[in-house]
Amino acid sequence: MKILVIGGGGREHALVWKIAQSPLVTKLYCAPGNPGTAALAENLPIAVDQLDKLLAFAYENKIDLTVVGPEQPLSLGIVDLFESHGLKVFGPSQKAAFIEGSKAFSKDLMQKYNVPTAAYGVFTDQSEAEAFINRTGAPIVVKADGLAAGKGVIIAQTCLEAVSAVRDMLSGNAFGSAGSRVVIEEFLTGEEASFLVITDGKNVIPLASAQDHKAVFDGDLGPNTGGMGAYSPAPVVTPAIHEKAMQQVILPTVAGMAAEGRPYRGVLYAGLMVKDGEIKTLEFNARFGDPECQPLLMRMKSDIVPVLLAVANGDLADTGIEWHDKAAVCVVMASEGYPGDYRKGDPIQGLERVAELDDVHVFHAGTAAQADKCVTNGGRVLGVTALGATVKEAIDGAYRGVARITWPGVQFRSDIGRKALDRAS
Ligand code: AMP
Ligand code: GLY
Repeated sequence: MKILVIGGGGREHALVWKIAQSPLVTKLYCAPGNPGTAALAENLPIAVDQLDKLLAFAYENKIDLTVVGPEQPLSLGIVDLFESHGLKVFGPSQKAAFIEGSKAFSKDLMQKYNVPTAAYGVFTDQSEAEAFINRTGAPIVVKADGLAAGKGVIIAQTCLEAVSAVRDMLSGNAFGSAGSRVVIEEFLTGEEASFLVITDGKNVIPLASAQDHKAVFDGDLGPNTGGMGAYSPAPVVTPAIHEKAMQQVILPTVAGMAAEGRPYRGVLYAGLMVKDGEIKTLEFNARFGDPECQPLLMRMKSDIVPVLLAVANGDLADTGIEWHDKAAVCVVMASEGYPGDYRKGDPIQGLERVAELDDVHVFHAGTAAQADKCVTNGGRVLGVTALGATVKEAIDGAYRGVARITWPGVQFRSDIGRKALDRAS
């Protein structure tokens, strides 16, 4: 089979790495890919939003399956476009991807189908938003309605801060048109977990549990990023929480999307807040999490291609996924300044020394090839991911890898996975 993976981040390197191991694959492409995927697939110089070029390539080269990594092409309707030309593709349709593309839509959906979530309001008017903020009190959470690369959420500690965040969003200064409508919601406390499933719209296969680390600094301090590290399994997702997530969140949402005329196929990612044995849903994503995908795929024992293909064919009933009985941890190494403005072009040293380590894999995210060197080319640069018999061993393995790599201004969190250890002790 010829497979095309769309995207160029750490998640897509992990997908390419996993798909490349399948005996079903004869040729693998990645658009646009990165220096990491170049070692396993043929990279194509096509950006993720160039849907016509992607379609022309897939059509002319008779691609058997296209796997879409990021949210942007999903929201632009790549799945609908490919399917209308008879091409098989893994991912939700544009109407289904709206569950991530509009936070107002996803909150209304949750309310309608009784999926537990924080109390909220949706606003386009500044004074109505202010009245809601003053009624609710701080801390309070302000979210841009549209896609904002995981950065469109402001946790305001005071009402004044919330009012000013709303003003920045509604005026278009903060996130352009993504902020022309805002969701304002109750601040929740607890421990977060990423709960991902693969579904064909009827059958649902839960993936192993995972936990992301969104804040840039140790101890969950500083602004939110796309994710500074992740591990799997996440002990906060006990068997009881898993069952609640399936019964209260995933199944009603999959059924609700079908009832709304938006049947959902692909990865459905629920961001959960867990507290005192109860869960609330923070958000939905229409794709694999990044970096959660990296540890999840390192733990996946079975071939992923039959699963992706079954979803593209709309029939997951006879397919399953097996997992390694090991833990995996991914530590993201980022550029100085991220998630704000960051430097690019710094030579990365030590990658070859990590290749010597067993069970440690470096997934590229924001890198570029320059002459015979690999240089930084993004905020999140690498995801150093390790397998271990326990979370502790996986943490140690990942940080052994991190210790061998450097560049000027490199930053990473030193506490990835600690919550799992605290829970175990
Ligand atoms: P979202 O994109 O909606 O998941 O928000 C990104 C991050 O902001 C989440 O992973 C949480 O860390 C935080 N967050 C979002 N909504 C809330 C909330 N209602 N209460 C507390 N934290 C939140
Ligand atoms: N790691 C969070 C996300 O992919 O949205």
